[in-house]
Amino acid sequence: MTVSRETLARAIAEDLVLDELPASFDVLGQRYSGKVRENFTRAGERLIIVSDRVSAFDCVLGTIPFKGQVLNQLAAYWFEITGDLFPNHLISIPDAQAVRAVECEPFMVEMVVRGYLTGSSSTSIWRAYDRGDRTFCGHQLADGMVRHQRLPANIVTPTTKAAKGEHDENRSKAQLVADGVISMELFDRLEQQCLSLFAHGQRLAAERGLILVDTKYELGRRPDGEIVLIDEIHTPDSSRYWYADGYDDAMAAGQDPRALDKEYVRTWLVSQGFTGDGQPPALPDEVRIEAAARYIETYERMTGRTFEPDMAPPVERLTAKLL
Ligand SMILES: Nc1ncnc2c1ncn2[C@@H]1O[C@H](COP(=O)(O)OP(=O)(O)OP(=O)(O)O)[C@@H](O)[C@H]1O
Ligand SMILES: [Mg+2]
Repeated sequence: MTVSRETLARAIAEDLVLDELPASFDVLGQRYSGKVRENFTRAGERLIIVSDRVSAFDCVLGTIPFKGQVLNQLAAYWFEITGDLFPNHLISIPDAQAVRAVECEPFMVEMVVRGYLTGSSSTSIWRAYDRGDRTFCGHQLADGMVRHQRLPANIVTPTTKAAKGEHDENRSKAQLVADGVISMELFDRLEQQCLSLFAHGQRLAAERGLILVDTKYELGRRPDGEIVLIDEIHTPDSSRYWYADGYDDAMAAGQDPRALDKEYVRTWLVSQGFTGDGQPPALPDEVRIEAAARYIETYERMTGRTFEPDMAPPVERLTAKLL
């Protein structure tokens, strides 16, 4: 990791962290404030400003220094190298933490792809398995599997795309088709495309000593009718990454694989007794700094590039560039 802990502490002390954006940004278009991103839609385009907010278990927990810059640049990296495999919404990156994208009509289904029997939230495949379920989103699971074990094959386990404040819910393909959410033919095509994209991601991650464990793809229809990836791709917010090195030893010892990124924040929350219900505990600065270090490490490992933080105060910088 090339950014020192002192720099991360300084970013917190000097408040170089982007939480909310002032109303002056509303000139950029119709605003939708997501948990993590501020979206501005105008004339067929969506400008997305990736804040430094962190969410887990569908709650916003606080901010992590440089998280927006890291995630936006990691998503841009993946969009650029996978564009021929699956077209996406990216137009340009006007700032380290902003993206210009084609406005699409979002699909009401999120395509989760999983390679491992893991997870910590109540909707995760591991929690379901641990409760005794042997069918998950229509996929049969064998008895006798253990936590974090690799699945016999990668699987797509779709969820509904919940409205703000609601939780996404697991669905099988049969349910989605029966509910008229999507046709069988379209689902089958998208499932194959998502599996190919994920396998490609896993191969590249493996070359970097990482395991791409699972991910969530959001899809949308472009004005020309084409179905493209929207939102983000293979970022630590939408995906889980583990270090490949040490995975076998951890499994043999019955321990958790060493995780990069957001799993660290989730694990910390669970250690504080929080699993999504009630008021989340405030993140101490040392947890925010450690999380930032891991996000940066994920970016540098995955891309082979050095992360160069933009140390300009974010609201002023974005105002100068975008307004
Ligand atoms: N190109 C696009 N066209 C239309 N919608 C998009 C596009 N890219 C991203 N989105 C949507 O913009 C939002 C991004 O903001 P963010 O991820 O912070 O929201 P969120 O809190 O996850 O919200 P949601 O619960 O709606 O997913 C998501 O709802 C995502 O589906
Ligand atoms: Mg989102």
